[in-house]
Amino acid sequence: MPFFFCKECGYEASSWLGKCPACQNWNTFTEFKVSRNKRKRENHEEILTEKPVALSELENKTESRFMIGIHEFDNVLGGGIVAGMVVLIGGEPGIGKSTLMIQLAEALSKKNKKILYASGEESKNQIKIRAQRLGINNQNIVLHCTNKIEEIAAETREGNYDLLIVDSIQSVHFSSSDTGTGSISQLKECTASLVKIAKTSDIPVFIIGHITKEGIIAGPKIIEHMVDTVLYFEGELKNRYKILRAIKNRFGSTNELGVFEMSSGGLAEVKNPSDIFISHHYTDKGVAVSCILEGTRPFLVEVQALVTPANYGTPQRVALGVDQKKLSLLIAIIEKYLVVNLSQSDIFVKCTGGIRSIDPTLDLAVVTAVLSSFKDIYITSDSIFLGEVGLSGEVRETQQMSIRTKESEKLGFSKFYLNPAKKGANLPHQHLHPLKNINDLYRIIIEKESKNDSKT
Ligand code: TYD
Ligand code: MG
Repeated sequence: MPFFFCKECGYEASSWLGKCPACQNWNTFTEFKVSRNKRKRENHEEILTEKPVALSELENKTESRFMIGIHEFDNVLGGGIVAGMVVLIGGEPGIGKSTLMIQLAEALSKKNKKILYASGEESKNQIKIRAQRLGINNQNIVLHCTNKIEEIAAETREGNYDLLIVDSIQSVHFSSSDTGTGSISQLKECTASLVKIAKTSDIPVFIIGHITKEGIIAGPKIIEHMVDTVLYFEGELKNRYKILRAIKNRFGSTNELGVFEMSSGGLAEVKNPSDIFISHHYTDKGVAVSCILEGTRPFLVEVQALVTPANYGTPQRVALGVDQKKLSLLIAIIEKYLVVNLSQSDIFVKCTGGIRSIDPTLDLAVVTAVLSSFKDIYITSDSIFLGEVGLSGEVRETQQMSIRTKESEKLGFSKFYLNPAKKGANLPHQHLHPLKNINDLYRIIIEKESKNDSKT
């Protein structure tokens, strides 16, 4: 019986579908040929042949981890690399995955670890040129340019390596399989074989996967469930700041992210990322700053809104960095509780610096930025807005308030707009504007600021 797969998300169906019911993409279904190759099936059976054993009979194990030495990277992994872990690094072509991997190899090679960098994408010379540009030249990094997963597996077993990097999973294949490189079955087979190498030899494996919007190459989503850790390297291609985000992690928290800056000398860690997402404190209309938490780290984020009269039919609602549905929801809340008519306005909302967040604490800043742009009211540059906005217009208390207020104060913000539901020592003492709902916000920000305007 034929199987069909969605190239984007791996959803399986028994017949071809025009639109994927899981990821809603169109024209992503492709047939998956089940290979009858005996040799390959034997390969898989090997993994499953361990005998059952009582938990108590196994020796106590301590998780052995080692640090890369690139703090942002170690942090995203949940405290360095665990022996035998399989990490998938996904990202669009050109975002900097190969650069990040060669820098990872360098950091580890300096700690006397031997790394196999297997590439099916680039020639030795291309990799050498990149390494040269980054000033990397270490005998512990071994380049192996091949498309054959069998060769990579053999080299890994024989060469006494401490880490394997595969660049990329879409460019390697099983020569015994009858489907083409980059197909879904190749992706799955090759990943299964790399997972096997990692689990049997305890060598950590880093797999690069290109996110592909279209074309015949399958995306990394299809193999996410097979690996231990999934990291996505993201950011606008033209923007020099890149974010490494953990989507799944069997060995740590998933909300962590690391920030890097791409320069002529490769990727550099950004030690104080809060500073880069805000466009240096000036008083403006349609701008409100908030403090989000990604994992354990606070980031200051600037939300910008532009509200303009809609010229054609249905007004536009465009959200970059915040969820589109969340924006629609917040607009509905503003219209209902503040009796503001936004139905004739186009609304564009964006987080500066290319950051994307689903932290609900951002809600209040979105509401403020929209109101500020609509009403042409300036928001003072030292104001910070923290709070989720509920469906009845209430401003909720923010989780882990003290981390956020400390970070905000560190960067010079002193006027806090939030709901201090529990009165605690952690709240900032100066310039606290307590809000119970968005009517309070409207009253304080819009009415008070307009009074100030008329005085001056
Ligand atoms: P690359 O790591 O090859 O991306 P990927 O493997 O994800 O496709 O590099 C991405 C971009 O980074 C490329 O356009 C060139 C740029 N770059 C720099 O700006 N500085 C550098 O030092 C390097 C190595 C690359
Ligand atoms: Mg690359």
